[in-house]
Amino acid sequence: MIEHQLDVQAPSHQYPIYIGSHIINQFDLYAPHIGQKTFIVTNPTIAAHYLTPLQQMLSEHQIEHTAILLSDGEQYKNHDSLNQIYDALLTHHADRKSTIIALGGGVIGDTAGFAAATYQRGIAFVQVPTTLLSQVDSSVGGKTAINHTLGKNMIGAFYQPKAVIADLNTLNTLPERELSAGMAEVIKYALLGDAAFLQWLEQHMAALMAKDATLLAQAVYHCCQMKADIVAQDEKEQGVRALLNLGHTFGHAIETEMGYGTWLHGEAVSAGMVLAAKLSQQLGCLNAEDVQRVEHLLTQAHLPIAPPKFAYPKWLAHMSHDKKVQNGQMRFVTLTKLGKAVISQIDNTDLLQRSLQDYLA
Ligand code: NAD
Ligand code: GLY
Repeated sequence: MIEHQLDVQAPSHQYPIYIGSHIINQFDLYAPHIGQKTFIVTNPTIAAHYLTPLQQMLSEHQIEHTAILLSDGEQYKNHDSLNQIYDALLTHHADRKSTIIALGGGVIGDTAGFAAATYQRGIAFVQVPTTLLSQVDSSVGGKTAINHTLGKNMIGAFYQPKAVIADLNTLNTLPERELSAGMAEVIKYALLGDAAFLQWLEQHMAALMAKDATLLAQAVYHCCQMKADIVAQDEKEQGVRALLNLGHTFGHAIETEMGYGTWLHGEAVSAGMVLAAKLSQQLGCLNAEDVQRVEHLLTQAHLPIAPPKFAYPKWLAHMSHDKKVQNGQMRFVTLTKLGKAVISQIDNTDLLQRSLQDYLA
């Protein structure tokens, strides 16, 4: 049953997001977007739960399908996995009318989406997100990428899917640590742009973490609405979309320094948002109670609020690769108050060092 539907009005392409229960095998949602040859990109963990029913659905409708199973984990969001997809597409003679279905979390969606963006200069793909993080964030908006050893998401393209089919039932098999990681991105939306949503999350976090289906559906829908609105204004991150990177400059530094997959992306974003709040405090915008409020909500979602310790030059080296850097100047998403984010150019690195002072090795 579809519980919510909305459209992403991106300038390059408009497409539907379907949010509901038991919709993963609802053929009419796929039918307008898939060709006669379909490639399901997933991994063994997700395949164990959701691949067979999807294959049965396609077989019943005489769609030729091939499953491509990538290794599971952030450390495999790389060129080898990308090549594995290209190899399968070429071996099975995929053409410009072929379709990729990305069945999984953000790692699968980002990698499969980049394969779709680049194979024969672009073929259709459908996002079927199965983690909270991918349902509220990565499946929407067309950012596709793989990691480079020197930096997260450094090789990629803006390339929109034909549709997003978010089945909330898939969250029932999601491990708690992954639910928390997704909740970091949910909290991110509240902090960057919606103080009322922040209060709502504070009120309902325990029930959300207990996977209350009605509340989770509301949260996913609200985040998708916020993201669709931002992507409609700024598809290629020339302005307002950069606010969606709250906590990510610090977070990507943690992920790169610790080795991809050691800290989950959402965990790194969580600690990164605390650092962004502390930087905002250094800038005189937040007070100590605001920072504590951020820490408290993240803790309620069982998320880390302190980053691992490493040397200041390493923080700087990683953050200098950030995609918001312009003409060598570092720019951060900071908060003018809880529920309102801006981009701040940080010329005074003393402020940065002070924000990080408790976490330097
Ligand atoms: P993930 O894709 O690694 O999935 C998390 C884990 O859960 C994996 O082990 C996966 O196999 C497993 N899993 C997935 N669905 C499951 C289910 N229903 N039941 C049981 N297990 C399941 O991680 P993620 O948090 O979904 O995504 C993180 C990635 O998303 C990062 O690479 C990040 O950079 C990227 N990201 C991209 C965007 C974007 O706009 N493109 C936005 C945010 C994050
Ligand atoms: N996750 C950040 C963005 O999609 O822009």
